[in-house]
Amino acid sequence: MKTYDRVIRGGTVATASDTYVADIGIKDGKIAAIGHDLAKGEEETDARGRIVTPGGIDSHVHMAQVSSMGVWTADDFESGTRSAMCGGTTTTISFAAQHRGQSLRKVVDEYHASAAGKTYIDYAFHMIVSDPNEQVLGQELPALIADGLTSFKIYTTYDALKLSDRQILDVLSLARRHGAMTMVHCENHDAMMWVAEKLIASGRTRPKYHCFSHNMPVEREATHRVIALAEIVDTPVLIVHVSGREAMDEIRRARARGLKVFAETCPQYLFLTQDDLDKSGFDGAMCMCSPPPRDKINQEYVWQGLRDGLFDVYSSDHAPYRFNDPKGKMLHGANANFKKVPNGVPGLEVRMPLLFAEGVLKGRLSLERFVAVSATNPAKLYGLYPQKGAIAVGFDADLVVWDATREVTVSQKMLHDAMDYTPYEGLKTTGWCDEVFSRGELVAKGGNPLAKPGRGRYLAHGPTDATKPLGRSIFPEDISDAF
Ligand code: URP
Ligand code: ZN
Ligand code: ZN
Repeated sequence: MKTYDRVIRGGTVATASDTYVADIGIKDGKIAAIGHDLAKGEEETDARGRIVTPGGIDSHVHMAQVSSMGVWTADDFESGTRSAMCGGTTTTISFAAQHRGQSLRKVVDEYHASAAGKTYIDYAFHMIVSDPNEQVLGQELPALIADGLTSFKIYTTYDALKLSDRQILDVLSLARRHGAMTMVHCENHDAMMWVAEKLIASGRTRPKYHCFSHNMPVEREATHRVIALAEIVDTPVLIVHVSGREAMDEIRRARARGLKVFAETCPQYLFLTQDDLDKSGFDGAMCMCSPPPRDKINQEYVWQGLRDGLFDVYSSDHAPYRFNDPKGKMLHGANANFKKVPNGVPGLEVRMPLLFAEGVLKGRLSLERFVAVSATNPAKLYGLYPQKGAIAVGFDADLVVWDATREVTVSQKMLHDAMDYTPYEGLKTTGWCDEVFSRGELVAKGGNPLAKPGRGRYLAHGPTDATKPLGRSIFPEDISDAF
């Protein structure tokens, strides 16, 4: 019997800290050895001259979910995980979204049922908490956290989802007590509504006006406020889908004061701009997401934040609503005002390849940072480490071998989601994932699926240092236990 089920031989192995040439020996779905001249495996992959990274972890995905406007995402667990896998992602963390009045436990059970037997790759859940009532705060959330659902997203906007500052404090202090990670969507709801009403009343209804309503000060203000609320209860917080300079500056300022603030950005802030919402007719709706893409200068800031460590995580925020569809972007027709268009863009299949090609291969981002933000950091922040997110002995053999020479013109036709468009249509790039391995199995090659659905496994989150409070209360010692 051979020692290894597979050896990936002679590749340039990239981790979040080092890059070196080695063979990777895989046994029973795990990385069993890393070294030189490993014994022959049952199967062999020649990776000489090619880069090998950990499979991606996409830690911000909406699939099989009803949006705040009551619209289902186009992708369910089958199409969503197939698409992710074809783009070099081997773990998704998507949301189990509570809508008001719903039991959080029941919601989580429903998402489990919806994913079971459907996924191509391993998956975990965050929760979305929109109704932090007594039952949720007192019983359901603590019990779910104890079961390994240790992260949730909350919102400062969307009528159906937003929490008041008071409710945010309730949730943050619960996160502190139970060791959970709070992810926050930061935009000032009232200010956006005020601007939107004025724009619409004056006839400015086209998709491009979404960017003026969801302007940078509303993102900056809510980011600042949420960080202050987290400071009051002394708990870490993770600001999701940061779009540009102003929110980034708030995060830098907070970190300079020693606060534990984590940050995420997404492909739409690197590869789209606000001009993409100003395409002819209703086409701008294809690129409408919240916060929206900004200008070229902000794109450069976001690249800089990926390089210098401001961003911990690079996720897709895949929120797929078909364009030419009355259950998608055209929910209220092709002339709807921008407030009536479902928010979100797809991106989970292009997430890894675009950052690799446009970031690593063009010298904007080191290979180590690429690995850190796309795999290792999300694994560490969300308690999937040391099973996922690194190339090291004992980890799951979730690996990607890259083709740095493949010339690609991005098109919806090549993607494997359930969408009818990609916002990146026509983008020309060089570099794409080639072989994708999930627990040692070759599941995709050349951007096409090889595996069958149903092989993915659910991952409970384990413990992580990321959720530990600083132990630095703003209150005197004799009253701090009140919080
Ligand atoms: O526009 C977006 N990002 N839609 C998806 C939901 C969210 O806020 O992440
Ligand atoms: Zn959001
Ligand atoms: Zn989202």
